[in-house]
Amino acid sequence: MMISMKRILPAILVAGLAIGALNTGLAQVKKGKTRPLTTEQLMEAIVKPHMGELKKGLVDSKPSSDEDWKKLALSAALLNESSYTMMEDGRCPDSIWADACTKDLREGSAAAAAAIEKKDIEGALAGFKKLGASCKACHSEHKPKH
Ligand code: HEC
Repeated sequence: MMISMKRILPAILVAGLAIGALNTGLAQVKKGKTRPLTTEQLMEAIVKPHMGELKKGLVDSKPSSDEDWKKLALSAALLNESSYTMMEDGRCPDSIWADACTKDLREGSAAAAAAIEKKDIEGALAGFKKLGASCKACHSEHKPKH
């Protein structure tokens, strides 16, 4: 009994470590290490709807009132903020994620926000296009395929 326990104990430890490593790997992408917000919630509640708002307000139609510009400013700012959330709390697993967040999403949304502030539609569209590239850049590597 003692001998067999001694034999299987290392195997159990190794398996435990392997599962632990797998969990941490997943946790980094699907959720931060300590905060409750999941990546799925962030995508569903902020990234997707505000990406949709920008498309609706810049591509499908053009802003024509202060209220329209105010809505666009909010969406660009929240997308920009998301790029920070996605880089915090141990969420970022690699440089593909980091580049999509900081170069595409963050720089694109900052450019869009600056252009929206000046009511510059062309500039806002350029920023929109740049931040839009982040979705595919990150998803192609990190979004689980169902
Ligand atoms: C840095 C990485 C990254 C970027 C940038 C990113 N996403 Fe995601 N997105 C993910 C990951 C990871 C998932 C999968 C989350 C899960 O299933 O746990 C996801 C899932 C989604 C989902 C599905 C959510 C669900 O209910 O399962 C939508 C919609 C989405 N993203 C929209 C977007 C849009 C639109 C953009 C661009 C504006 C974007 N994402 C940019 C990482 C990213």
